[in-house]
Order: sequence, then structure tokens, then C-alpha cells
Amino acid sequence: MKIGVPKEIAAHETRVAITPTIVKQFTKNGFQVLVEKNAGEGSNFTDENYIEAGAVIASRKDVYESDVVTQINPPDLADVKIMKQGSVLISLLFASSNPTLVKACVDQKISTFSLDAIPRTSLAQSMDVLSSQANLAGYKAVILGASKMGKIFPMLMTSAGTIKPSTVVIFGAGVAGLQAIATAKRLGANVWVSDIRPETKEQVESLGGKFIEVKGDDSIKLEGGYVKGVSDDFLKKQQEAVLEKVADADLVITTALIPGKKAPLIISDEMLSKMKSGAVIVDMAVSQGGNCQSSELNKTVLKNGISIVGEGNLPGTLPINASELFAKNVLNFMLHLTEESKFKWDNEDEITNGSLLIKEGNILQDYLKDVNSLQEVNLN
Ligand code: NAI
Repeated sequence: MKIGVPKEIAAHETRVAITPTIVKQFTKNGFQVLVEKNAGEGSNFTDENYIEAGAVIASRKDVYESDVVTQINPPDLADVKIMKQGSVLISLLFASSNPTLVKACVDQKISTFSLDAIPRTSLAQSMDVLSSQANLAGYKAVILGASKMGKIFPMLMTSAGTIKPSTVVIFGAGVAGLQAIATAKRLGANVWVSDIRPETKEQVESLGGKFIEVKGDDSIKLEGGYVKGVSDDFLKKQQEAVLEKVADADLVITTALIPGKKAPLIISDEMLSKMKSGAVIVDMAVSQGGNCQSSELNKTVLKNGISIVGEGNLPGTLPINASELFAKNVLNFMLHLTEESKFKWDNEDEITNGSLLIKEGNILQDYLKDVNSLQEVNLN
């Protein structure tokens, strides 16, 4: 089975789906890997590194004509049109907000596994690209924020006086938020955390963070561990509860997401006006519309003396680690789906069931079947 790895063409993308180390693993397991010329350039993997690992360097057309194509970002429609009938696409697809791409895959009669649709179960943890990338992003958000601050994180006692520790406030204690807490704590900051899932309190405290309590109500809808909706009333109460902490913060990191929806607004301009001059906000939800009213995608905005960092692809700022983890996730996923380098197409398997969206042009997931009624979502 030939696996094609194209060069990512999305703006600001530096990562690559398969690294030379993982090429070796694929070849050891009986697969042949075709890598587009310069695909690893942004992650510092050269074509020679891939060749040494056993890959073949190929044209974009040859890569898309492989039996399996794996990439990070959803493919361009023009690239889907090159794919062979019956071939397989493995990628992040965000299908329910991307009906045009779903229709293109159906027309091309290909099969698609969507990496963002892999169920978040214990068995699937080693295949979970959302977690591996969010983990790195959470770390980098703290480092980026710290580098923009005119202050250090830890308490420092010097002969010239004592420096107080910085205060970091983190919104959202999912994978990214928990890594941000751990990183900020390691650097010596006082860390306050808000999340609307009450069960995160214990996780936050186990990392040394302090949880900002908001009295919950019935309007918080959870599905598969994800927040599906939250009332305006709850968000108002949350704003009141966090205001004092945000006003005192040196760094605010927002990670709050609601899958398939625009990210909730957390730092309004009014709240921003209460913050200290010199404070920094890193809005990790900026590519889903942002948690901060004034953040802008891929820009750092200065407002009332506060820097608002809107880096849209944080994992892409750590392409070496991010590509390695992504590639390992894809390898684990492929090994799970195949036997003797052939797909098992096991309907009974929970991971296959959740992530296989289209089989040879037929839509398998109920939520995608009425594809014409799906809305193309531009979250910005
Ligand atoms: P996410 O990226 O979808 O959301 C980030 C965080 O923002 C979540 O904790 C969410 O509760 C929070 N949030 C949403 N609206 C908010 C608001 N208005 N204010 C404050 N916080 C807000 O989350 P992620 O990291 O993708 O995790 C989603 C779920 O999946 C979690 O329950 C997590 O524990 C679970 N999970 C399970 C895994 C497994 O068992 N294999 C692996 C990874 C995650």
C-alpha cells in the first residue's frame, strides 16, 4: 500500500504529517511512503532525511494518486480531484462545517477518515492529534506570553528587593489549558483557572492551579466530554467571578472552545479596560473566532497598553515536535485500521465507526447525510 504525504499548503503551516522517523516505522510494517518534494522543509526535515528513512520523493500529482493520502489540514478541492476512486484520505476534515469538501470526496468516490472525529477514548489516546497538538500549543502559549511580558514569573528575593510572582489566568482546562497551567506553574507564576466543566476543578488543583468557582446551572450541556452549549446567564456570572482575577493578571491565556461553534466571548473590551497596562493576553481560540473581543488572527494587537496575541497556529511554531507527534498519531491510527497493510473496514470498531465519514463515496455518518443542509462555517 502506497501512502502519499503532500506538502501542506495552508497559510502559516510549517508542519508535515509524516516525519522521517515515522517513515521508517511505516516501511517496517510493509507500507511504501511517497513524500512530496520539500514537504518537510518547514519542520527542518530534508528530502535526503526522508530518502535515508526509506521514502520516495515524488511530485504532488503522484502523492495524491497514492492508495492513501495523509495530511494535516483539510485538502484543497483541486487536490481531491486528483485522488483515485477507492483511495483513502486521512486528515483533519472538520467535516460538519466543510460541506463542499464532503461533496468533493463523495464525487471522487474516495474513503475519508477524519482525524478530528476519532472518539476521545482511552484506546484512541495514542491516535488523538487534537490532544497531541493542543498539548504543545498550551506550552507555547505560556512561553509566547512570557516573552511579551515586561516581568518575570517567579518570586525573586534579591538584595535590591523582592519581586512578587506574576499572576496568570487561564480560561479552559482542556488539554491545552492543563499544559498551560503546568508550564506557568513550573515557571513560578500564581495560576488561576476558569472552566465551565465543574470536574476540571480537581485536575486544575492537582497541577497547583487555583480554580475560580462559578455557580453552575442546568444550561451547561456536555456531550462526550465536550461543552455543547452554555447560557448567556452563565457567561455573565462567569464574567463577574473572574473580573477581579483578570484585572490583577499579568498574563491571560484563553483556550475556551465549543466544537463546531464560534468560540465563546470571554474577554470583552469592557473587561479589557479593567486590565493592567503591560498585561498580555494569548487568545488560543483566535482561529475559531476568538475568546477575546479585540484579538486578530495572526496578529499581536496593542490596546490600552495590553498586548493581545492572536497566533492562529501555535503547534506550527513548534513544527519539529508537532510533526513528530502528529506522525506518531497517524502511524498508530493506520496500524489500528489495517492488517498486513490492508484496511480491515471493521464496522464493529468504535474508532473506525466514529472516524470513517465516507466509504467509497457513500456518507456513513448521519450528521453528514443531509450534506446540502450543512453550513459552510467561516469561524472568523
Ligand atoms: P476543547 O479544546 O474543546 O475546550 C477547551 C476547554 O474550554 C474545555 O475544557 C471546555 O470545558 C472549556 N470551555 C468551553 N467554554 C468555556 C467558557 N465559556 N469558559 C471557560 N472554559 C470554557 O477541549 P479539549 O482539550 O479538546 O477536551 C475536550 C474533552 O475531551 C475534555 O472533556 C477532555 O477531558 C476530553 N479528552 C479526553 C481524552 C481521552 O480520554 N482520550 C483525550 C483528550 C480530551
